[in-house]
Amino acid sequence: MAYAAGVDVGSTQTKAVIVDEDQRIVGRTIIDTGANVVTAAEKAFQAALKESSIPELEVQYVVGTGYGRYKVTFGNSQVTEISCHARGAVHLFPGTRTVLDMGGQDTKAIRVRPNGEVIDFSMNDKCAAGTGRFLQAAAYALEIPLAELGPTALRAEKAVPITTTCTVFAESEVLSWLGRGKKIDEILLGVHRSIGTRSMALLRRVGIEEEVTFTGGVTRNQGMVEVINQMLGFKVNVSEESHLMGALGAALFALDRIMNSRVPVSAREEVS
Ligand SMILES: Nc1ncnc2c1ncn2[C@@H]1O[C@H](COP(=O)(O)OP(=O)(O)OP(=O)(O)O)[C@@H](O)[C@H]1O
Ligand SMILES: [Mg+2]
Repeated sequence: MAYAAGVDVGSTQTKAVIVDEDQRIVGRTIIDTGANVVTAAEKAFQAALKESSIPELEVQYVVGTGYGRYKVTFGNSQVTEISCHARGAVHLFPGTRTVLDMGGQDTKAIRVRPNGEVIDFSMNDKCAAGTGRFLQAAAYALEIPLAELGPTALRAEKAVPITTTCTVFAESEVLSWLGRGKKIDEILLGVHRSIGTRSMALLRRVGIEEEVTFTGGVTRNQGMVEVINQMLGFKVNVSEESHLMGALGAALFALDRIMNSRVPVSAREEVS
């Protein structure tokens, strides 16, 4: 049995996935990227190997993706995260025609063919206002754990309008609303809606075609999932694997390389 791996070195978190020949996930990890990108890639891969109990030598091909894909020093090749999220999304949800990837620093809308090929994509400019970074800034300002952002926002009955278009100013706007007596849940619903509105603009640029699959770490935030569902008017596909989608896509590209390099039995017989 051969195995393939994908390592997605994101700006915020590094994800590794190991798949077997039947495209099943046998190992996975998510760790913070931190300052040393090369080390993060190695650590994530080693942890995924450990989880799978597969010896490193049996992993025949590794694809690196994400902003730090060239720092996957043990990788055999690199594929862009746009292609990897598209591939992973179509693999898990074959009806996918549009992908929304919300990560720590970038948000991307991707239109895909039924086979997972990318038709078009659009991403936020240099500003991180519509991304996980904005949520992290709000969590920091309000001193609540990241995991509680979504559930807290969902408790609100109305939203405080968040007008800042810059993550740098998000913290001060959030604090100023707090100072004016607004409730935390209402401020947070406003933060989620402001990110949702930006994502809708990106999605409209590529054209929204159902099914829409939501990927990236922000999918772990149930509040964000709900806000996106409300704005679209239908439900996005989301699963436990959504955070790992780029790494999964990379692992599937790696598996293609292994399979394509094998000479079919019939061809071997013809040669001999
Ligand atoms: N348990 C959690 N609850 C809520 N949000 C979470 C959780 N875990 C991660 N996130 C969000 O996911 C983001 C990281 O997502 P992801 O790993 O997709 O980013 P990345 O790939 O490093 O970034 P990019 O693709 O922009 O380079 C964090 O900024 C945070 O907002
Ligand atoms: Mg990413």
